[in-house]
Amino acid sequence: MNRIDHDGPLVVGGGLAGLSAALEAAPRKVLVVTPAPLLQACSSAWAQGGVAAALSETDAPALHAADTEAAGAGLVDAGATRLLTADGRATVEWLASLGAPFDRDAAGGFAVSLEAAHSRARVARVGGDGAGRAILSALVAAARAAPHIEVWEDGRLRGLIQDGTGRVRGALIERDGRLVEVLAPAVVLATGGAGGLYARTTTPASLLGEGMALAYRAGAEILDPEFVQFHPTAMDVGLDPMPLATEALRGEGARLIDGEGRFLLGEAADADLQPRDVVARAVHAARADGRGACLDARTAIGAAFPHEFPGVFAACMRAGLDPRETPIPVAAAAHYHMGGIVAGPDGRTTLPGLFAVGECAATGVHGANRLASNSLLEAAAFGRRTGRAAARAGPVSGPTVALAAPPDLAPEALAVLRRTMSDEAGVVRDAAGLTRALAVLDDLEARTPGALPLVAARLIVEAALARRESRGGHWRSDFPTAAVEARHTRLRARALAMAE
Ligand code: SIN
Repeated sequence: MNRIDHDGPLVVGGGLAGLSAALEAAPRKVLVVTPAPLLQACSSAWAQGGVAAALSETDAPALHAADTEAAGAGLVDAGATRLLTADGRATVEWLASLGAPFDRDAAGGFAVSLEAAHSRARVARVGGDGAGRAILSALVAAARAAPHIEVWEDGRLRGLIQDGTGRVRGALIERDGRLVEVLAPAVVLATGGAGGLYARTTTPASLLGEGMALAYRAGAEILDPEFVQFHPTAMDVGLDPMPLATEALRGEGARLIDGEGRFLLGEAADADLQPRDVVARAVHAARADGRGACLDARTAIGAAFPHEFPGVFAACMRAGLDPRETPIPVAAAAHYHMGGIVAGPDGRTTLPGLFAVGECAATGVHGANRLASNSLLEAAAFGRRTGRAAARAGPVSGPTVALAAPPDLAPEALAVLRRTMSDEAGVVRDAAGLTRALAVLDDLEARTPGALPLVAARLIVEAALARRESRGGHWRSDFPTAAVEARHTRLRARALAMAE
């Protein structure tokens, strides 16, 4: 097997978190490894909303932090959230300085819009619904121009290399069918979420929680994996993944209706801007009992649709549906993983040498329910902090432990897994369904022991079964209330424990 000794951080993942880390690690040499060309197969490129930050005169980081804590349903880390929201303006300005073309107001400031559960308009957008791609394009250009960054756009993470003490010393990367051991003083996982474990998802289907699974197997602590956020308005137009109809449409007055044209959540003007889990369950229930669910933008947006929301408009038209004339059929779909690898704002995990940032990390800022558009802020703000921290890692030597790559899951098995996760570990869960999901996992594991998507799915399902309450994105129909005390799930290796 080939072995490379890289003298600087190894960043696995080329989305907003990974590239922010890579840029800030200068002047250390950074190797960025992604399984697909930059801008492809990462959720940040698909983000429609924008970057949440206190940018207007009537806003303040403390107000943003308060909204973040309220959405997170008792499980938000106040210290990390204070840092995140305080970093808001500087992060948006940094992204703008790299060329991210944020929408501007008449005075030249950042134009901000309202999304659900924000008490102020504070989402900095680009071209209506094109924030993710435009911001990431600016970072990709900066990374390609940066002399300290080398990018492999064909490298798949297959394992974490450790020494006898458990310190992470590098990663096993597959390129063109061959395995390469890349040793590095710091490994930064920015591998994204786990939406692809679900048949109904708005994220790239290739995101299967594999970074979390590898970190878990290496001994890192995992936090709250049961908390998956479901977006209420994924377009149900026969595509996998499902295109997103951004929440900003509801911010502009688009309404959720059933097949008979009745409001799904009542007539109040702000009824559809309730927290995302509440709206997702209403959409799920309307579909489950045959009423159907659609997003009606005909009156509120109408003729302005093509220029105000060009991305959503194009996706509708590709599906043969003109949203100026026809309500958009929608379903709730897996959208964001709040749980993940325990990490601080500077990416440090519980394993020396291993950092995690972005959706694969759990820094405590999302709690049980992420506030809309906080994830791009977290990816960039904590990405920068992580890059600086990883750059400080000094050289390490000594023997490492031999490692074999885990087996891949066959496409048919993956399809079974994805259906099972959507049906049994989705928007509405109960003990019977989660137990059925475990039986399916047992069966799939017997055939492909150690496959990483199965490890990730088991973390989610076991934790969902153990959490006998409803909180944030985790809804148990057999335990429909929240426990008096909010507790985290912390997992290490195979021991499952609820701890404070
Ligand atoms: C959206 O635009 O609805 C998604 C924003 C987010 O999930 O942060």
